Amino acid sequence: MSGRIPREFLDELLARADIVEVIDRRVPLKKGGKDFKACCPFHNEKTPSFTVSPAKQFYHCFGCNANGTAITFLMEFDHLSFHEAVEELAGGVGLAVPDTGPARPEDLQTPRLLEILSEANRFFREQLRNHPEAGQAIEYLKSRGLTGEIAARFEVGFAPDGWDNLVQTTGDSKEALENMAKAGLVAERESGGHYDRFRSRIIFPIHDYKGRVVAFGGRILGSGEPKYLNSPETPVFHKGAELYNLHRARTDIARQGSALVVEGYMDVVALAQHGIDHAVATLGTATTTAHLQRLFRLAPSIVFCFDGDHAGRVAAWRALETSLPELASGRQISFLFLPEGEDPDSLVRKEGEKTLRERMAHATPLPDLLFEKLMSEIDMGRMDGKARLVELARPLISKIPAGPLHELMAQRLADESGVSTLSGKVPPAQRRTRSRRSGPQRLSPVATAISLLVQYPQLAGELELPVRLAGAAPDPGLALLLQLHRLAQAHPRLNTAALIERFRDSGDAKTLEKLTARDHLLNEDEVGPFFRETLATLEDQAVATAISELLDKAAADDLSEADKGQLAQLYQERAKLREDRENG
Ligand code: UTP
Ligand code: MN
Repeated sequence: MSGRIPREFLDELLARADIVEVIDRRVPLKKGGKDFKACCPFHNEKTPSFTVSPAKQFYHCFGCNANGTAITFLMEFDHLSFHEAVEELAGGVGLAVPDTGPARPEDLQTPRLLEILSEANRFFREQLRNHPEAGQAIEYLKSRGLTGEIAARFEVGFAPDGWDNLVQTTGDSKEALENMAKAGLVAERESGGHYDRFRSRIIFPIHDYKGRVVAFGGRILGSGEPKYLNSPETPVFHKGAELYNLHRARTDIARQGSALVVEGYMDVVALAQHGIDHAVATLGTATTTAHLQRLFRLAPSIVFCFDGDHAGRVAAWRALETSLPELASGRQISFLFLPEGEDPDSLVRKEGEKTLRERMAHATPLPDLLFEKLMSEIDMGRMDGKARLVELARPLISKIPAGPLHELMAQRLADESGVSTLSGKVPPAQRRTRSRRSGPQRLSPVATAISLLVQYPQLAGELELPVRLAGAAPDPGLALLLQLHRLAQAHPRLNTAALIERFRDSGDAKTLEKLTARDHLLNEDEVGPFFRETLATLEDQAVATAISELLDKAAADDLSEADKGQLAQLYQERAKLREDRENG
């Protein structure tokens, strides 16, 4: 993998890639004037305020102010790192990201850890086939009804008894051991030295969405504590972001339009053995927003499967609360509660695929669960009970993004409680959108100049900046303008997106994006004159500032001869500028 990506490569990539194509593949766009439009994928809305400009190679949402280049879009929408987004974009236009430059340690670490994890996966699988004690593991798997074929598909392995089976494979290399520790495979003894984390366990490799092994879960053979042992958090494994089996299930999830979320590894495996291939499992954690976003990118519907017991109900309610903000229009969440004492594994073996699918089809919709749970805890026959319902439900409903579901839920709350002043309440998300939208501020001349230059980089080749600006008092806006102008002049091939990318890691990135989003409503032939005019204003300001600084100085003490000469020159300059202006 590469170290720092060369700037020239990014320039070339952004010149070749088309942001319209990239976004349209994920969010269908409609042509509107010279730009393209869609409902914003980053916030919930009914009328499109998400705009993609082919000229600027830049997207911008007038509702939530999301904006950026094709790289930014891939980072935000596909949840990719900068590197991954560049690779994805490059792949789309047939460019290979060059493998040059000194690699940074963190870039080297990830591939090495992934390699080690993949080797460990091979090791565990090999042990299941050939270790002298593998017999008991195979017996255990058989006793749970697993076929050899399904065990092979899920790459099930075996960690034999003993403290150093895996440790020994490193051949005493200190570096290898340290990396194994970083990958979560071995732990360090207080007395020094390392020992295997997984011992005497059935091993389930956990893959990321791309199918790379990032962690393991190990089940004890038979009974004992802890029943499951999982890899710790590592640089390549974050429980809150990964879902067991997602890389295999993703096509089925997309095809069925629905994802089934269960709690256990064995549940996923057993379901797959019975032909249910769209199941994923959380990894011993509660469902997170990241989980939901991953799944909703693949399908509009999620079914959560929970035990019917008290703990299952509590877990379901937590999942419900996490889900509310993700319920953009078109999305659905349901809850399937299983009979007491059953889990998806036991149930699918008992009842078979068909019955389980029927159960899924009749799962409780989230809105029903919300009202049923709250109302079951309240005496709805009492007026103060109904008031309590309003108090409990309101904050929950307000988390649902503005849209039909939000309105229907508010309506239902009104119906159930008899309190009818609910739907007038604007949910927070919408309120924020409105106030942000109200009246764009006027730009200062320097901001205007930057804005024009970044949107029309060819201006740098057509017009020099007034010399006076370079010598003007240090001003962050002016500094950015000068830097941008120098860059655009030196590299006439850079388009807007490439310019912005050059500033990605600088403190000016946000300013530049905001100024790129600004629409000046100019025709092609008005751009040059407007830029020229803006520069003239800046020049006037610079002269005026220099004059007033000298006058301040004169008021405080005497001006030197040089100061006096300079002041005279400034007055002349000002007079000339005025004259020029009057003559057009
Ligand atoms: P369960 O206790 O419901 O186990 O844990 P299970 O999936 O039915 O396991 P089997 O059928 O007895 O083999 C559900 C999930 O919670 C996590 C694991 O991810 C497990 O699959 N878990 C459970 C742990 O991480 N550690 C534990 O000790 C127990
Ligand atoms: Mn189970």
